[in-house]
Amino acid sequence: MLEARYPSYKNLDSYVDVERLRALDGYVRERLQRRLQVAKDLAFYTGPFLLDGRDPHLPGSRLVYLAQSKREQDYYDLDRTDLWHPTSDAEEFSELMDFIRTLPFEATGRMIIMYDDSGRAVSAHRDHDSTDLCHEFIWFRTNLDKPFYMLDPNSGEKLYVESHAAWFDTVNQYHGADGTDGLSFSIRVDGRFCAAFRREIPISADNPAAAPSLWAERDSQQLAHSDERRSLAS
Ligand SMILES: [Fe+2]
Repeated sequence: MLEARYPSYKNLDSYVDVERLRALDGYVRERLQRRLQVAKDLAFYTGPFLLDGRDPHLPGSRLVYLAQSKREQDYYDLDRTDLWHPTSDAEEFSELMDFIRTLPFEATGRMIIMYDDSGRAVSAHRDHDSTDLCHEFIWFRTNLDKPFYMLDPNSGEKLYVESHAAWFDTVNQYHGADGTDGLSFSIRVDGRFCAAFRREIPISADNPAAAPSLWAERDSQQLAHSDERRSLAS
């Protein structure tokens, strides 16, 4: 029986071209540094679901929107792929956009780069509180600098993301980042996964938002079984 465990995330490195992603590090960094000189990008807002109400809702990170919705900002629209179209900023990050086109999406919705020139901590938060809503997204990064974690609200246990690409349960656990030196950034693309990718995802009928954590749990069970088989064979 598959049951989600927290904190957890689904490592998606085997579904993305990690070498190509790493090769974009200088490209993205240089453009973000340039933006810091000229543009005033929108501040990242954590939303109302903070782990600790004393933490800032505006932790200091900024957002570059690579796609923009036809409607006013509404969090529940971020996977309504028909509403989103690329911004002029997407042209500035055209090589990143080329990479995004290689991801296992049938269609994309919101696409953002979240960055902070002084690597401030991001308050632990949940993205929303609807367990029946599972956003299909890929969170990814060109380097492993940002200490990004998942946190189980019951135990307080933190699990740091070790991969370049991940999908995670944003509802039944918290996520956030510790502070780090210098510029830190990550990218999140929401949309609709393609059919082949979706077939791999375990479904949770009573808690759809837990799908990434169920998938992570299935991975760890499979790993445990293969370790078992290996030790029996030796
Ligand atoms: Fe978030």
